[in-house]
Amino acid sequence: MKAVILAGGSGTRLYPCTELINKHLLPIYNKPMLYYPISLAMLLKIKEIVFVLNPGDEEVFKKIFIRLKRLGLNPDFVIQEKPRGLADALLKAEPYVKNSTIFLLLGDNLLYGHDLINVLAEAKKEVEENGGATVFGYYVHDPHRFGIVEFDRAGKVLSIEEKPKNPKSHYAAIGIYFLDSKALEFAKRVKPSHRGELEITSVLEQYLQQGILRVKLLGRGFAWFDAGTHDSFLEAGEFVATIERKTGLMIACLEEIAYRNGWINKEELLELAEPLKKTAYGKYLKRIAEEKFYAL
Ligand code: DAU
Repeated sequence: MKAVILAGGSGTRLYPCTELINKHLLPIYNKPMLYYPISLAMLLKIKEIVFVLNPGDEEVFKKIFIRLKRLGLNPDFVIQEKPRGLADALLKAEPYVKNSTIFLLLGDNLLYGHDLINVLAEAKKEVEENGGATVFGYYVHDPHRFGIVEFDRAGKVLSIEEKPKNPKSHYAAIGIYFLDSKALEFAKRVKPSHRGELEITSVLEQYLQQGILRVKLLGRGFAWFDAGTHDSFLEAGEFVATIERKTGLMIACLEEIAYRNGWINKEELLELAEPLKKTAYGKYLKRIAEEKFYAL
């Protein structure tokens, strides 16, 4: 399985901040927004990640890639000339993911929760073994803002709709998707929606029509943020700060994950910590390198 992380788009809901900088580089508390989706791919031991970028963002991302390569990852990028929608962005990654299963992540989504990795690993395995697609449903009070998935009591998906005026459920299909290689074929058939975009939900609808769309519900033990507006951006940062202070453990610390995955050794972790030594982040890396027992 290969990961595709979408880091393009116009970011207009975060203007004026994103008039100056790509949204995904803005900090959610103490690390760039992009670290959060990258961390999920790493936790699933996926090293091949392709980023979909806006034209002009290559140079700054190349700097991030240098760090990711030091962590043992194999990052690359493709350019989406215009933000035509998520299905279009996925298609840009075709040369990388043709004939592969895909872990598609939206660069502005943050997901946290107990046992999250096992939940994701199970979905990954299911798609690798049985094909089809798996989405995650998360209860929201404002369903008109998201892709909404409707399901019956047995958990069978009945419909999936992008930002519906009359939502059929309160469950958002969050920006984390496991897809088999048919996704590309389906994405090619998508027509622009009423808002003029090639929607990811139109890809998922085709999986539904073939009876191979699954939904996994994320219950009260999970926190999900789409950090694409000023309020949700702030909320996500406050959440990360609170959890990290309370537990003494970091969320989405890429260097720590690489170390625990065995992709870098103690010396390499300490080298990565050195330029950050004035920060709590750097001190944390040092602590991890020197600890005798693994934290959970
Ligand atoms: O956050 C979850 C929601 O994300 C889902 O429930 C919706 O079904 C899905 O369509 C999406 O809705 P948004 O309106 O929030 O998508 P947004 O335009 O914010 O784009 C999501 C990410 O994808 C963001 O990190 C930017 C990137 N992107 C977006 C577009 C439109 C691209 O890379 N290329 C694009 O063309």
